[in-house]
Amino acid sequence: MAKVAWVLGGGSGIGAETVKQLSQRGWTVAISGRREQPLNALAVSHGARPYPLDVTDFDAVNATVARIAQDLGKIDLVVFSVAAWEVTKPGRYDYASFAKIIDTNLLGAMRVIEPVIEQMRNQGFGEIALVASVAGYFGLPRSAAYSSGKSAMIALAETMRTELAPDNIAVRVICPGFVKTDLTAKNDFPMPFLMEAEDAGKRIVDGLLNSKKFEIAFPLRFVLILKAIRLLPYPVFFALMSRLIAQPRK
Ligand SMILES: NC(=O)c1ccc[n+]([C@@H]2O[C@H](COP(=O)([O-])OP(=O)(O)OC[C@H]3O[C@@H](n4cnc5c(N)ncnc54)[C@H](OP(=O)(O)O)[C@@H]3O)[C@@H](O)[C@H]2O)c1
Repeated sequence: MAKVAWVLGGGSGIGAETVKQLSQRGWTVAISGRREQPLNALAVSHGARPYPLDVTDFDAVNATVARIAQDLGKIDLVVFSVAAWEVTKPGRYDYASFAKIIDTNLLGAMRVIEPVIEQMRNQGFGEIALVASVAGYFGLPRSAAYSSGKSAMIALAETMRTELAPDNIAVRVICPGFVKTDLTAKNDFPMPFLMEAEDAGKRIVDGLLNSKKFEIAFPLRFVLILKAIRLLPYPVFFALMSRLIAQPRK
């Protein structure tokens, strides 16, 4: 019986490339996002099963988990690749924008995790991969909501990894650097080590299928630089962040 994945945010960008990779490797893939058109396009091109969904609607998430389990018999793997993103003006902490980003990126994942864990406990196995970001390694200037939501997502995955192991549910976190997608198209700042979405999709699926490691992070050089910055003493760290914020925009 083919393995079953559910990729949320599967209609575009990194999620769509993950869907393509999984279906090329023989998986049955359910895909979700709000827009039906990109989901239907992947249904035609890669045989994915569309389940349109807004992750801010808890009842709809619950119903979708039940439908996928019923239609496809089980859910081996869930990849949460959903995000909202806005560049935040330094010094501005707009509640409405913050709430939208956290509601989608972090609470959206929480709405999915609860019924998915129940399904996986019932079937006796499963794997949950949360797409966070290297932006979650520390508080990045100009992305207060996004960066803090991704930090929380990494912490959430760390907690879940330990707690869900006895239930035979593996939890992973995926931390990409900059990837060329609709999400980053609106960025007006330099994006070091920018990579193609297809490359990101390959690295994610290789990491998921060929390793058991907790974190799948890439590109390696950028990841190492950022992890080293995280270890700097605070006075040095803040001096570096001040220089970053003073950088000219494109
Ligand atoms: N691109 C990067 O440089 C980068 C770097 C690190 C991490 N990431 C992470 O990678 C993941 C994918 O991002 P991407 O770059 O591939 O951008 P993307 O193409 O914009 O993907 C985001 C997806 O989220 C879906 N989505 C947004 N709000 C939703 C909602 N309320 N309910 C359901 N689906 C929703 C979108 O579909 P609809 O609009 O149709 O709902 C879209 O398919 C995100 O978690 C992002 O934070 C990206």
